[in-house]
Amino acid sequence: MTTQVNDNRYDESQLQAQFDQTIEAKDRIEPRDWMPEAYRKTLIRQVAQHAHSEIIGMQPEGNWISRAPSLRRKAILLAKVQDEAGHGLYLYSAAETLGATRNELTEKLIAGRQKYSSIFNYPTLSYTDVGTIGWLVDGAAICNQVPLCRTSFGPYGRAMIRICKEESFHQRQGYELLMTMMRGTEAQREMVQESVNRFWWPALMMFGPPDDNSPNTEQSMAWGIKTHTNDELRQKFVDMSVPQAEALGVTFPDEGLKWNEERGHYDFSTPNWDEFWAVVKGDGPCNEQRLAHRKRAWDDGAWVREAALAFAENQAAEAAADETPAAGVETTTPEESAK
Ligand SMILES: [Fe+2]
Ligand SMILES: [Fe+2]
Repeated sequence: MTTQVNDNRYDESQLQAQFDQTIEAKDRIEPRDWMPEAYRKTLIRQVAQHAHSEIIGMQPEGNWISRAPSLRRKAILLAKVQDEAGHGLYLYSAAETLGATRNELTEKLIAGRQKYSSIFNYPTLSYTDVGTIGWLVDGAAICNQVPLCRTSFGPYGRAMIRICKEESFHQRQGYELLMTMMRGTEAQREMVQESVNRFWWPALMMFGPPDDNSPNTEQSMAWGIKTHTNDELRQKFVDMSVPQAEALGVTFPDEGLKWNEERGHYDFSTPNWDEFWAVVKGDGPCNEQRLAHRKRAWDDGAWVREAALAFAENQAAEAAADETPAAGVETTTPEESAK
């Protein structure tokens, strides 16, 4: 038996070497491949958190669908919110290939054992926020997600490619809404500026804590799950957003924001990390409301899940009955039929 144990150890180190080679070559790890348990767990946590963010993220904007200012705006917002539901589903499917079911992940979310993006714990106070979320929140999501298209786990990377195409529509529709308002009345311009003031800092916090306080980043980068650090992505987002704000005619609420010739980047002030941690730990303005709403929707949908399961079981039973030959009926083998 000792030989058997040794063989297993040998196999595992071979498998680990193969895994390392795949990561090194920047190839994809697929669900059928061996992977270290810690890699699987990290991915499940990240993909689940991402999926939950898409689904919870439907709430702040869904809140305005019935109060859209025109048919056109309503059609755009409906399409956008439905896209987010689709993103959640692709991502739950990616997590399922790692062995975590959607039920199990949703239950963890509802029990507060898995997180979603802190940004969705802020309220939407006017229709202008639909524009600001599209521009800044979907914009920040794009910065985060474009590099994830090349992440080391195949199903996650492929889901991201499709998601990113839709995110770019989300950002454009938001920017176009704000641009329309900026061409309107003075009161509308003030609404845009007020909304941007509220969302700027929470949008910067979407990239997560600063690199020196982000314990998982190093390992995630070594595994090719993450390809850029939080601070790199945050800088990229600031550099990209400043010219867009100028074109729009709004400012960001940061006196420390200025171009640094030497660095070739914009300098900006430090976000309020105490606020970030408070929101992450459940004390944001809407945490309770968001989770309560999700729980209600999950509970209300229980009968649909039960009915779908019962239907699938009936179908499977019928299909099995069709395949079983009835007593007394002569059956032929393929060889016999060919004669
Ligand atoms: Fe999305
Ligand atoms: Fe989006």
